[in-house]
Amino acid sequence: MGIKHRALGRIMQWWAAHGGLAQFHHPTGAVGHAAGWIMGRRSSNVARNRWAVQLLDIQPTDRVIELGCGPGVAIAALATRAIRGLVVGVDHSQVMIRQARRRNRAAIRAGRVRLIRTPVESLSISDGPFNAALAVNTVGMWPDPTARLRELGRLLRPGGRIALVSQPRCPGATAATSAAAANELAALLTEAGFEHLRTEMLGLDPPAACVLGHVAPADRPSSSAVQQRGHDPRVRRSPTRSGIRSWLDGRR
Ligand SMILES: C[S@@+](CC[C@H](N)C(=O)[O-])C[C@H]1O[C@@H](n2cnc3c(N)ncnc32)[C@H](O)[C@@H]1O
Repeated sequence: MGIKHRALGRIMQWWAAHGGLAQFHHPTGAVGHAAGWIMGRRSSNVARNRWAVQLLDIQPTDRVIELGCGPGVAIAALATRAIRGLVVGVDHSQVMIRQARRRNRAAIRAGRVRLIRTPVESLSISDGPFNAALAVNTVGMWPDPTARLRELGRLLRPGGRIALVSQPRCPGATAATSAAAANELAALLTEAGFEHLRTEMLGLDPPAACVLGHVAPADRPSSSAVQQRGHDPRVRRSPTRSGIRSWLDGRR
């Protein structure tokens, strides 16, 4: 790891410990701009976004939606894969939408990327149905995440793919924190009716967890009672609101 990236990591740790995490929930003004600048360049942030895009196995004609796209790192990676499709990015922060727009200018001009400034809880969109959906380090910030994921499931094609990523950023987060976050994401996806869940971990510090799932195929209605695979059965299936927020968005 280079000196620049180590320095960025230190700045982040200091900032998190001094209340700066709010700016990652809803970046505004000059400080929000700095938060976006860091998210767009910090090596672990860039790595986990590109890794998640790779796991989603995007095809050239896919239509993809990313919720909480921030400065647009994953949007750029998605757009290099969905070269004849469409990538839609959603974020409630004007500062983030502006940065994502700058990062993806050429693809926006070519009509392959569309960015929408809105809270996920008010999302109304006519670009679907989508083949895949992505959300990186943002689910724990949404009001009623299960309801949001159900709505997202309705925007996806039958059999459509979803990837939810969490790399806990709370001070002192460890591999155990990431594993707990993965279990909470899996529980949310199950509650929202997604199936064939699978968890992948990326060896960062702390690890990034990605839980992937599918919408039920058209010939069979979705069942929220589908058995999760690869998750610790002792972990509770229905996370409380405070639980999910504390594990996933790093405000512990
Ligand atoms: C920690 S940042 C992660 C950004 C990006 N996914 C990444 O990994 O670089 C969380 C993002 O989610 C957005 N966000 C949080 N709550 C949201 C909501 N209710 N609706 C839309 N965007 C939201 C924030 O504005 C912020 O850009």
